[in-house]
Amino acid sequence: MYMNLALKKRTLGQFFTKNPFWLKKHILEFIKSTKANIAFDPFAGDGDLLNLAKQIGFKKMTGLDIDRSLNWKINDSLLNIPKVKNSVLITNPPYLTNYSAKRKGIYDSVKKYFDICKYDDLYQLAVEKCLSNDFGVMIIPETFINSGFPKNRLISVTIIENQLFNDTENPVCVICFDNKNKLNDKIKVYKNDKLLGNLSYFEKMRKIPHKNIYMKFNSPKGQIALRAVDTTNPQKPISFMKPEEIDYDLSDIKHSSRLITVIELEAKNDAIDKMIEYSNDSLVNFRKKTHDVLLSPFKGNKKNGERRRRLDYLTARAILEDAYEFVNPDAKLKLF
Ligand SMILES: C[S@@+](CC[C@H](N)C(=O)[O-])C[C@H]1O[C@@H](n2cnc3c(N)ncnc32)[C@H](O)[C@@H]1O
Repeated sequence: MYMNLALKKRTLGQFFTKNPFWLKKHILEFIKSTKANIAFDPFAGDGDLLNLAKQIGFKKMTGLDIDRSLNWKINDSLLNIPKVKNSVLITNPPYLTNYSAKRKGIYDSVKKYFDICKYDDLYQLAVEKCLSNDFGVMIIPETFINSGFPKNRLISVTIIENQLFNDTENPVCVICFDNKNKLNDKIKVYKNDKLLGNLSYFEKMRKIPHKNIYMKFNSPKGQIALRAVDTTNPQKPISFMKPEEIDYDLSDIKHSSRLITVIELEAKNDAIDKMIEYSNDSLVNFRKKTHDVLLSPFKGNKKNGERRRRLDYLTARAILEDAYEFVNPDAKLKLF
């Protein structure tokens, strides 16, 4: 069916979980607390997660996969996952965005899945299907945390900072779920082994812009530049600056630029300096208080092992609005 192995790997998302370090103490405790006696991986691949389950004491394992060559019972788990009694699901499903399927020329093979769901990444369809079981642990993209996917069945979400896969730099997290609906204040958020807080704290900390000040992103004649992504050098994080201070040719800024931008706004030069200073302080403070959980993960870590982050333009706008109001306390604000 597949012309070559590389094409199969891309289409089926065959990136196998060879490293076990994602299994933090609290995740292991959750698995034990389910009292399940079967470990179940509906996207079993090479069976690495089921082997790990065996090492932590499971005697029975059930694996399914769509790829015949892997010798599991064949099942299309993006369409339906059978309920396995007394099991805990331990899996890492395929990840594939609608956009990258099109870009890689493999959309036709996966179109049937996008046609039946409202998600823009197949891992989310996999989560939906896995929730038909009572208990589960899933390794999925970290972008899940800031996605609109309902989180009411989660017990915890854990950001795994070290690079987990040998063949892709995709930033991941691990979700643990049970069969009960919960409010956000019962859902714990961890980074590696450290408990950071609960999901309701992070939802409250989210910055939403009021859009009451004229601001145009990706405008080459703007007065504030933003390097919206951390460099690998911890001393050069995301920051606001004057356009002439950025080490980038700003005439290359496109309408779709998401990593470096210039922002046009109505403000005098001396106000711009103060806004830049205020925005950088407020960003440092925001990052500290939220442990970076609300910033998008970016592929590849910094040299000190921390995950690189990207500041989305809605949050950047909200920070700049606060700075504008600080610098112009008497300004009459209107909606844009
Ligand atoms: C990311 S790999 C993970 C494998 C294994 N869970 C692990 O962590 O090592 C995803 C696996 O899902 C399989 N897969 C992809 N689409 C599938 C589908 N629709 N139904 C069942 N398995 C599928 C792939 O063949 C691949 O083995």
